[in-house]
Amino acid sequence: MRLLVTGGAGFIGSAFVRRRLESTADSIVVLDRLTYAGNRANLADVEADPDRARRYRFIHGDIADPATVRPLVASADAIVNFAAESHVDRSILDSEAFLRTGVIGVHVLLEAVREVTAAGRKVRHLQVSTDEVYGSLEEGMSSEDDPLAPRSPYAAAKAAGDLLVRAYHVTYDMDTLITRGSNTYGPHQHVEKLIPLFVTNAIDDQPLPLYGDGLQCRDWLYVDDHADAIGFVLDHGRSGQAYNVAGTGARPNREIVAALLGALGKPWSLVRAVADRPGHDRRYAMDGSRLAGLGWRPSVGLEDGLAATVGWYQSHEAWWRAAKNGDWDAYYERQYGERLAGSTSA
Ligand code: NAD
Ligand code: DAU
Repeated sequence: MRLLVTGGAGFIGSAFVRRRLESTADSIVVLDRLTYAGNRANLADVEADPDRARRYRFIHGDIADPATVRPLVASADAIVNFAAESHVDRSILDSEAFLRTGVIGVHVLLEAVREVTAAGRKVRHLQVSTDEVYGSLEEGMSSEDDPLAPRSPYAAAKAAGDLLVRAYHVTYDMDTLITRGSNTYGPHQHVEKLIPLFVTNAIDDQPLPLYGDGLQCRDWLYVDDHADAIGFVLDHGRSGQAYNVAGTGARPNREIVAALLGALGKPWSLVRAVADRPGHDRRYAMDGSRLAGLGWRPSVGLEDGLAATVGWYQSHEAWWRAAKNGDWDAYYERQYGERLAGSTSA
């Protein structure tokens, strides 16, 4: 297959590109806008390997730009759309870019697929989505046909993307798929997210800002598992369906933080209780049985995944210190300055 992978220079997209080129004979065009979260260095190993590099091309551009997108879609067999603004806290500070990429960008991609489909050629569109579209659950697990109930601007933009994909399947008979992954962790994740932020701050003996009571639950999924699940759905998924990609079971944030500190040999006293995220989703949990029924389950346990992740950040200081350059200090001050000033022991 000829794949167009949008957002392929980000955390999960780059893992997908790396693993897909390794495990198939596919060729891949990556289209990425290289926002603060996009990093071509995430694909350096692919670019340095002659076999994979021969089947790979990188294009710097925006999924919301029809002139860029149309010709790329015209020469692809499938599109896997990772492109998004992905950080909930940033969506609370300023949501415009989330809507631009998550709604207009997805619409531009779907319109380009519609043109090609109308001309008689099938192009599969896989939209990479998230458990956050189901909203916060007090108990039980979200299934694919549950109503969407997003609670942050980020999640609302993702839900809008899902609804557009569904509408294009129904209205134009387009070949579409949606995957909804749970909280993903592993190498190359931007330092703004919980696990990399806490690991890198702890390496520098800096405070770890834990929101609220720290008892919010997330279901952690290792990045390679997430990438492989997306490839599996691309190959075996039924057109028009959504598939939950569940992880290893919901855990409270405090438990994850304690495991990270244990792996790093750092004290709990680094953890500071800070003002909560507004509208903070308390718990996510998904029923992964639809994807299990198709034949896929995660293979990396939380303990092994966390050990690999901590080890990667310990041995890739140049990568994460570069991500803490540029606008990072201004973002950190805006997000955490007052919170840390008013923090208490956790
Ligand atoms: P990321 O922020 O690391 O990467 C996003 C990538 O998209 C970056 O390379 C960025 O440059 C690119 N991008 C952003 N806007 C673009 C645009 N307009 N045009 C082209 N490229 C653009 O995100 P991630 O954590 O790798 O997430 C990838 C996808 O998976 C997102 O759609 C996210 O919603 C979804 N997801 C993430 C998680 C998670 O825990 N990280 C879980 C479930 C689903
Ligand atoms: O569930 C899937 C989602 O997981 C993806 O769709 C998002 O793209 C991804 O960013 C992630 O969203 P979360 O908001 O769950 O991830 P984050 O790493 O920001 O936070 C994880 C938990 O840790 C959450 O309960 C908030 C808490 N947290 C986070 C940060 C950054 C803190 O307590 N302190 C922090 O400084």
